[in-house]
This record gives sequence, C-alpha cells and structure tokens, in this order.
Amino acid sequence: MSVAPQHVAVLMGGWSAEREVSLVSGAAVVEALRRRNIRVTPIDVGHNVANILAGLKPDIAFNALHGRFGEDGCIQGVLEVLGIPYTHSGVLASSIAMDKPTAKILFERVGIRCTQGSVFHRDQVLAGHVMPTPYVVKPINEGSSVGVKVVFDGSNRAPFDSEAWHYGDHVLVERYVPGRELTAAIMGDRTLGVTEIRSHHRFFDYEAKYTKGEAEHFCPAPIPADKYQQAMDMALKAHQAIGCRGVSRSDMRYDDTPDGTGEIYLMEINTQPGFTPVSLVPELAAHAGIDFESLCLWLLEDASCRR
Ligand SMILES: Nc1ncnc2c1ncn2[C@@H]1O[C@H](COP(=O)(O)OP(=O)(O)O)[C@@H](O)[C@H]1O
Ligand SMILES: [Mg+2]
Repeated sequence: MSVAPQHVAVLMGGWSAEREVSLVSGAAVVEALRRRNIRVTPIDVGHNVANILAGLKPDIAFNALHGRFGEDGCIQGVLEVLGIPYTHSGVLASSIAMDKPTAKILFERVGIRCTQGSVFHRDQVLAGHVMPTPYVVKPINEGSSVGVKVVFDGSNRAPFDSEAWHYGDHVLVERYVPGRELTAAIMGDRTLGVTEIRSHHRFFDYEAKYTKGEAEHFCPAPIPADKYQQAMDMALKAHQAIGCRGVSRSDMRYDDTPDGTGEIYLMEINTQPGFTPVSLVPELAAHAGIDFESLCLWLLEDASCRR
C-alpha cells in the first residue's frame, strides 16, 4: 500500500491483565501516526468493540492491545468478520503464540530448542515440587510476567496462593534456565537484532518490566557473534513456524554459566510486543535504523485481512 490510509483506528486498553501497558503503547502509536498527518481514532476496547468498529468503518485497525482477547486471536477474528485490515499477526498465529504449550510443540517440530516443561494441574503444583528446584511456574496464556514465579533452591513454600491464582486449572512448569536473558525482534522477514535484559530483580518480573531503572537493556546484546546470530535465526524460525505477520519478539534464555550447556532456549514468542518508543521492539528497530514513526507506518502497510 503506497498511499497513506485515510483513517486508522488504534485499538488499545482492553480488559486483560496488560490493559495499562496497552494504553501506553496505544497512546504512543496515536501520537506517532498523528505526527505523520494520519487521521486516527483511538479506541479503548470494550465488549462493544465490534459495534463501534462497524459504525466507524476505519480503513485499517492498528492493534496496540496486549494479552487476552487482544493478542490471542479474538480481536483478530472480530476484525476478519468485519473485513477491516489489521496490523500484526492473524487469528491462528495469535492464538497459537498465546498458548505457550501449544506454541512449543510447533517450535520443537521445526528444531527450535525450547525451555523444557510440562503442564500440571494447579493442585499438583500446590501439593509439592513437581520437578527438582529451581523451576518456573507460569500461566499457560498470559504475558508481561503476570503470574510467573520462580521456585529457587531451598524453597519450601507453594509457588502461589490458591485464591490468588486467576489463570485457570492448568499451569506450565519449566526447568529454570540460568544465565542471561535475551530477546530478539522480527519485522516481516527480517531480523532487527537481539537485546540482553539485565533485571535488578531475581527474574524479569512485571515490576522489572515496567518500572524505570529496574532492568537494563543492552542493545545490541553483548554476546558472542555466533550466539547473536543463533538468537536471531531462532526468532525468525519461530515467527515463521506459526505464521506470524508484522512484528514479533521472541524471549530466550542463554545459559552461559560455567557448568551450563552454553545453549540458547526459546521461552515464548510475543505477537503483540510492547510498543512504546522505549519498548524492546522499537528500540531494536531504532538500532536497525528504523524510527518509531516509520515502524508504525510499515505496520500499516503490512496490515491485512482475508476480507
Ligand atoms: N524456564 C525459564 N528459565 C528462567 N527464567 C524464566 C523461564 N521462564 C520464564 N522465565 C522468566 O520469567 C519471565 C517471563 O516468562 P515468559 O515465558 O517470557 O512469559 P511472559 O509471557 O509473562 O513474558 C522471563 O522473561 C524470564 O525472566
Ligand atoms: Mg516474555
């Protein structure tokens, strides 16, 4: 699409655990598109979003939602039905990526090394250690580290309170991979680069992700060149394995500890990664010479639906 779209609806907010993050992403996108003189209508997405979009009839929807309903194929399905082209991944890739155990099955099929884990019933996880410590307990389909807990050596406490677990009956439990945290961004069919994240917390938890100064980004990641390339290849392979569109970001662990394996493990792919100008994907795009406004415009050009 070479001509700028006339009217863009920016979908943000929603009602997932990541609502606040999405409002920040959405506001940044609205500002960037307005700076390029594009007519923009911000929509704080509620349960009546289909009616609002049907009345508004935008040329394109910029999806700035994160988490459930915005990142898992649901809003994508609404947009398909309405025939409104939208940014980022489609229905199938979105729903696969959001369901971590399902995504891993597909990643492993194409030879991507993933963090090892299994799904347990929450009662089993509460009853005692389901694998040797250290291990990681996480919801099957959340984001932003919501509900993620690391059970370190020596811990004899349950990883969560039964009443405080709002993420369903099933829990993903993974072996903890020590070492370094990496994330790599994909834009269409190109790799943008790899960032190392050093969290001041014991892992990259919600506070470390969204509180200024609680985590540092090293972009590009200061790791050996072959590992850097391997992380980029892994992210592109993951993006393609589940048929992602637009931008995605893959989160990994690199075990470079003295007694470790020296390998990189994929934790997950994010089809609606954080999108403020200081978020990881825009930062990697800037490193690759693409500013935030250009990244937003590219996503609009890349937007589609089946009609
Ligand atoms: N297997 C693991 N080993 C070590 N750390 C992990 C593991 N799984 C998750 N973590 C930590 O928890 C964070 C969130 O996990 P992730 O799987 O990326 O879920 P989310 O969708 O919430 O971002 C990671 O960024 C990492 O710091
Ligand atoms: Mg993650």
